[in-house]
Amino acid sequence: MKVTAKAYTNIALIKYWGKRDETLNLPMNSSLSLTLDQFYTMTTVDFSEAYEADSFVLDGQTMTDEKLLPVRKFLNILRKEADSRLFGHVISENHVPISAGFASSASAYAALAAAGAKAIGLDYSMQELSRLARQGSGSASRSIYGGFVVWQKGERSDGLDSYSYPICQEQNQWPICFLAVEVSREIKTISSRVGMKRTVETSPFYLPWVNQVTEQMNQALAAIESRDFQQLGEVMEANALGMHGTMLGANPPFSYWNTGTIETMKRVTSLRQEGLIGYFTIDAGPNVKVLCQVADAQKMMNELQQLKEVQQVTLCQIGPGITYL
Ligand code: DP6
Repeated sequence: MKVTAKAYTNIALIKYWGKRDETLNLPMNSSLSLTLDQFYTMTTVDFSEAYEADSFVLDGQTMTDEKLLPVRKFLNILRKEADSRLFGHVISENHVPISAGFASSASAYAALAAAGAKAIGLDYSMQELSRLARQGSGSASRSIYGGFVVWQKGERSDGLDSYSYPICQEQNQWPICFLAVEVSREIKTISSRVGMKRTVETSPFYLPWVNQVTEQMNQALAAIESRDFQQLGEVMEANALGMHGTMLGANPPFSYWNTGTIETMKRVTSLRQEGLIGYFTIDAGPNVKVLCQVADAQKMMNELQQLKEVQQVTLCQIGPGITYL
């Protein structure tokens, strides 16, 4: 059976940074995200006796060697869970700026998990799909759902209790949005996987950061519950700045920021002082995401577009979970 699924990226308000198990992508801390309605991956999968090997076509190009490997690894997980020996054919279209900190792996593995599981005959619940997607990329476990999503870290060593679930679905009507501020199209040099591993292993700032995540998570959840935009923005910003701080303490130290990142953060802060309220967050890349209220979005976009380092600003509203086409 040929199955097509679509999944959107998500932006973490409370970040996932650090693993306790690298094979299963089990996180050190729980995280919280908002799924967007803009950047997505559409993936078609089928398994057949006629195939003699796995194949993967990304944006019209056949992938080989190290580009094919992660997809083959993921198909191996599916084959194991379905007790199948069939090879698979995967076709993906990525509508996400790849590797520039817009978390293309989140939508990619969420779409692959959803399409792949169904194509191989697994009748999985959303929770099982989230657990499956996690094994491709941690943040993908959150993109199974729309709106606000919590990925609970779980305690078990087999990862069965490490999956995401949607929260406060009634708040998905809250008119807030993210502005995706693009300051670079360069491919990042340190993947999030490598960056978080180095941080956990070497940074003395890592433990203090991870130890405060539970408290920050509670603050963020309370803010969402009561639609307290300021409280949500403040805790989101603090969590991201802390995470980027852990990288400066790593050995060797590293940073994902460039001049455009810093100028955007400074402008968001000064606009706040001028009364235009927005809060920033940054992932494993130089681009910045600014949380603001929909009523302020156009004004905020106009302001940020004036910065000379800013190439493009995209308005992203609250988006849906996986859909089958
Ligand atoms: C900074 O999910 O890309 O965006 O599990 O190794 O694939 P892997 O990592 P990934 O890491 C995302 C890190 C982050 C924060 C977040 O999205 O929570």
